[in-house]
Amino acid sequence: MELQITCLDQSEWRPLPSDESKLGFGRHFSDHMFLMEYTPDRGWHNARIEPRHPLSLDPATMVLHYGQEAFEGLKAYRGQDRGIYLFRYRDNLQRLNNSAERLVMPTFDIDFVASALKKLVLLDQRWIPTSPGSALYIRPNLIATDPFIGVRPSRNYLLYIIVGPVGAYYPEGFNPVSIYVSDHYVRAVKGGIGAAKTGGNYAASLAAQREAQQQGFTQVLWLDAIEHRYVEEVGTMNIMFVIDDEIVTSPLTGSILPGITREAVITIARHWGLKMVERMLGIDEVVECATNGRLTECFGTGTAAIISPVGRIHYMGKTHTVADGQTGPISKRLYDYILGLQYGRIEDPFGWVERIDLAG
Ligand SMILES: Cc1ncc(COP(=O)(O)O)c(C=O)c1O
Repeated sequence: MELQITCLDQSEWRPLPSDESKLGFGRHFSDHMFLMEYTPDRGWHNARIEPRHPLSLDPATMVLHYGQEAFEGLKAYRGQDRGIYLFRYRDNLQRLNNSAERLVMPTFDIDFVASALKKLVLLDQRWIPTSPGSALYIRPNLIATDPFIGVRPSRNYLLYIIVGPVGAYYPEGFNPVSIYVSDHYVRAVKGGIGAAKTGGNYAASLAAQREAQQQGFTQVLWLDAIEHRYVEEVGTMNIMFVIDDEIVTSPLTGSILPGITREAVITIARHWGLKMVERMLGIDEVVECATNGRLTECFGTGTAAIISPVGRIHYMGKTHTVADGQTGPISKRLYDYILGLQYGRIEDPFGWVERIDLAG
């Protein structure tokens, strides 16, 4: 398939955000976007990069009614050497295909979309911010486009990619966040769509997220949906606990997102010779270990924040402090290391980082 590229004339380029320290997350978008369509007779076709524009959708478009869609979130980083780096981006595209399969949507050729994604980033590279912790966020989105309101899989689809500059994800920066354990709402159940990156999971999370924020906490920690006991993940992160000398994280049981940062942390921790265990961990054990001092660190892992140390865990009306509310040494070491890899500062022994301005 050919990729058509239509560029905005330089005179039509939109102004960049004036203050990189106030970028926030998800508010600014670049000049161009990638699109490609799927129809049953032609498969994926009409791949193009063109000036960013609104989509025109019939009000009956299926994605708007039944949420048949999947998306991804990844970043391009501007290194100190001015190079542009991508981190494990093919894994994001593979995960998008996995989500597509769960949502009965067509998969796509990863090599082709990877190449289009790189072309889009290179075309809009003036939008990649340079300040520490900032990056160009890349959002692929695959949506069902039949104008039809019966419940069945759509026959036609659109895959598009938009990009935009983002600052540090958490307003607190690299300081411990506080999390609220939801003992009432649940996010996903085994056999459901929790392992797919699809809008329904995020819609399901909003009420608990509001409850957490009303009580002064940053994010929700989800428990399993059946026993309301085992820790699963946080709003937009996987979660890890350092208990005694072991890093413990939930196994991929089908109800949590298989995070790419989670997998990277598991690999790095083992590479460093740290004990890393994937096992079911009850919130009762977390609370007990927080109380008797065996829980020395807790941190979230995700593309947005990389590593987000947790300083307080609120469960059943009680707030438990972790690591005296400070950032622990393992969280800090992982954060510095992964950040160093992503910005091309550290030699990459894992083959995760690609400098795309050189790759062409
Ligand atoms: C629900 C959820 N869990 C975990 C993660 C972390 O995944 P990753 O490390 O691939 O960003 C995310 C973010 O994408 C998420 O939305």
